[in-house]
Amino acid sequence: MTVTLAGAGAALPERVLSNHDFVHLDTSDEWIVQRTGIRERRRLAADASLAELATDACGRALADSGVAPRDIHQVVVATSTADRISPGMAVEIATRLGIDRPAAFDVSAGCSGFLYALDHAIAAIESGRADHVLVCGAEALSRITDHTDRNTAVLLGDGAGAVVVSRAEGGLRPSFVLGSDGTRIDLLHVQQDKLLRMRGREIFESAVDLMAGHTELVLERAGLGAEALDLFVAHQANARIIHAVRRRLGVPAERVFLNVDKVANTSSASIPLALAHAGEQQLLHPGAVLGLAAFGAGLSWGAGVITWRSPDAVRPDGELSAGRGVR
Ligand code: UT7
Repeated sequence: MTVTLAGAGAALPERVLSNHDFVHLDTSDEWIVQRTGIRERRRLAADASLAELATDACGRALADSGVAPRDIHQVVVATSTADRISPGMAVEIATRLGIDRPAAFDVSAGCSGFLYALDHAIAAIESGRADHVLVCGAEALSRITDHTDRNTAVLLGDGAGAVVVSRAEGGLRPSFVLGSDGTRIDLLHVQQDKLLRMRGREIFESAVDLMAGHTELVLERAGLGAEALDLFVAHQANARIIHAVRRRLGVPAERVFLNVDKVANTSSASIPLALAHAGEQQLLHPGAVLGLAAFGAGLSWGAGVITWRSPDAVRPDGELSAGRGVR
């Protein structure tokens, strides 16, 4: 028995902000593109519901996977900018989608949150507690952005992405590693003033080391070399960081997915958004081996190897997923 990604979906707010919308902060399109690769980002309206946007992404992931809402046993949402403090958005999203009384909760682990949620989903399936888990990353970072600070305002975007994680009968077993270092909270945090502060240059260097080193570790544990990766999908914070990681790993540029130019840094939503966009661009084929890596506030980090849509995935209506009494 193993675990695979069965489908992905994305949802972005309609409002697009280009780099030119930030020139009043004494910045320029040239600086932002050269230092980060970002060209535009999306902005959720101040009175809009993030849960509604996340529901759209989750609905698209379900449609892409062919898994029906009734077959989802757990819903996990990674976010640091939920609509309300409690309950988490997962319960609202599950209800909006007609998922019947699943285990549903939110995870907060900065930009690594999606990989933490995905690791939980994999463990739940491997332990037999679930067959299909819906994992979403959703952020309205505009809610915690200091819109007068050029050091951070140009980097952040809003959006939501989701994947359906499913049991499969054979194929590659996922290999994941997560970690954190609380001695480095000061590098990136959101304090009581509710605004994100970070020391970008110091994070840059740690990010390359953490993502490259932990991707090497999960590859080694899976018995794979970097050449086995069909697509490397890293947290989309900065194109320069991602290229530095891929050079360290020896992954060719054409096997690295980038959408930071279109969506900027969307924290927990970044990797599922990238997966959904890669799918839309026909860059994922059944059985593709994906390398995933993230880092963020904590510092926290994660890396993993998992297949896209394993041909051995258990179908939602198949006997393997029926009557397991796991709810
Ligand atoms: O999601 C995880 C969390 N965060 C990150 O991943 C961020 C990681 N870090 C980065 O992406 C990069 O470090 C940044 C994009 C934040 C900055 O790029 P950099 O090449 O590391 O620049 P720097 O911090 O060394 O700053 C260079 C200069 C500074 O001016 P001085 O001190 O050299 O005069 C900054 O004040 O660039 C200045 N600067 C800007 N200039 C124009 C910083 N932001 C801007 C800006 N426009 N938006």
